[in-house]
Amino acid sequence: MIKQWWNKKVAYQIYPKSFCDSNDDGIGDLQGIISKLDYLKDLGADIVWLSPIYVSPLADQGYDIADYYNIDPRFGTMDDMDQLLKEAHKRDIRILMDLVVNHCSDEHEWFRKAAEDPDGKYGKFFYLERTDDPSSLCNWRSYFGGSVWDKLPGHDDIYYLHVFHKKQPDLNWENPELREEIYSMINWWLDKGLDGFRLDAIINIKKALPFRNYPADRDDNLASCTHMLHDASGIGEFLGEMRDRCFKPHNAFTVGEVFNQKDEDLPDFIGDNGYFSSMYDFSETVFGQSQKGWQENRDITPDDYRDCVFSAQRKFNQVGFVSNIIENHDEPRGASRYIPEGDQSPVSKKMLATAYFFVKGLPWIYQGQELGMENIKISSIDEVDDISSIDSYKVALSQGVSEADALHMIEKYGRDNARTPFQWSAAEHAGFTRGTPWLRVNPNYTEINLENEKDDPDSVYNYYRRLTRLRKSEKYSDTFVYGSLIPYLADMHNVMSYFRKGNDQTLLIMANYQSGPQRLPLPGKVINVLLTNTTGPEITDNEIRLDGYQAVVLEIE
Ligand code: GLC
Ligand code: CA
Repeated sequence: MIKQWWNKKVAYQIYPKSFCDSNDDGIGDLQGIISKLDYLKDLGADIVWLSPIYVSPLADQGYDIADYYNIDPRFGTMDDMDQLLKEAHKRDIRILMDLVVNHCSDEHEWFRKAAEDPDGKYGKFFYLERTDDPSSLCNWRSYFGGSVWDKLPGHDDIYYLHVFHKKQPDLNWENPELREEIYSMINWWLDKGLDGFRLDAIINIKKALPFRNYPADRDDNLASCTHMLHDASGIGEFLGEMRDRCFKPHNAFTVGEVFNQKDEDLPDFIGDNGYFSSMYDFSETVFGQSQKGWQENRDITPDDYRDCVFSAQRKFNQVGFVSNIIENHDEPRGASRYIPEGDQSPVSKKMLATAYFFVKGLPWIYQGQELGMENIKISSIDEVDDISSIDSYKVALSQGVSEADALHMIEKYGRDNARTPFQWSAAEHAGFTRGTPWLRVNPNYTEINLENEKDDPDSVYNYYRRLTRLRKSEKYSDTFVYGSLIPYLADMHNVMSYFRKGNDQTLLIMANYQSGPQRLPLPGKVINVLLTNTTGPEITDNEIRLDGYQAVVLEIE
């Protein structure tokens, strides 16, 4: 692996709408982010990704872009963005934006022009199909439910493709003119001083053509788009071109949101001359997911979690630099998902943090994770904002799931969980806004909030500060970043443990992933206890006793 400027960093994801509201309209904004740069710096964040802030009708919370060259007024102005870049760079923080180019918004000028003149230049920016018989269109199901085909506005016999929401028409990457537009836009941002991008839903830009049906996998007679992804080949042509034309000349950092990748493609994706600098490991994210819908998902146990991480490490580490997360804006809170229900506590949250933070790759913190924020309870579907939760709710009801169970399912998997406002303090609305927040604040903010945690040396927040400092410490950072990862006690129930081996240093991370204590064998003499989330541990010559959910980072001989 060639060493790069981003290897030793810690990354942080901001969901701008829910981070910090500076003007009390209930929506987080760029000035809010600017006011928290010192907070981010002190936490140890070096790379900050902003979920979309471009002009958007917000049908999918900004992942439906109507103008790639402007900031949505709800988030601020281009001056605010310039100020953010300047202030971040002063603090040696790099800023990434979200690159959402599989689709745009149906309110983008390109799509409006395509609807005006489907045979003209902009018609070719999209996938349009002319037919009087919609049943002749292929049977793919959009990720948010229903057919991927909808009528082009103003036309009864022309349909456009949208693999996500109907307000997110897919862009036709086969068209070189479209690609040129995208590359110019990317370069415009990078020339402005942006440091890179997170590449949204990027695997979808290559379709398996010509369009064809797949065997239906639900009662709606439709088939998941993942079948098409499996069949699609040749995405490298687009991704390689984008790397060469945009990212490489700017030495930009890019991280791909890639699901359904083929293992044999990994070297092309994140190898030394890969299309991206990094990509997320979603093995535990997708664990237990059913093609039939959330109602059939299976819970993940501590052993499953560990096995997912280790198998991903085996796969990615041969090849390149993976990005590690326990949550993001599309997922439930990691503390709620990966810690068995009922066991959420500062100690168990710190254990989970330790376990994922030191595996090889770039550690990412999603806003609020550092406070130990949790999923939110819901009492009615009317409280839910997320379009994918609403669709999943309908699917579950149609499968005979009771309303109560369907709501519980959304509590477990819904995207609102991560999108509730950041809990700054115990003040009204968690100090996020003095107006009315656009999405409910989690009622547990009176307890879980930054103000409470800041001065408490044992808080989850202060533990995250210790994690970032330890990873970056002069003495150990080479081992944490470049050392190899070797699983330890990989078959022991409710244990997640691994070595990080550097040139002349061996670190051992051990986590007792259960509420009861455990005694574990030690592979050698302990030289140093670098970190623990409780007190102790009790160490004898060849054994260590860990409390329930205790984690330790050891230096061993
Ligand atoms: C990605 C985003 C998600 C969005 C989707 C469509 O998965 O993370 O929030 O809904 O792409 O853009
Ligand atoms: Ca605001």
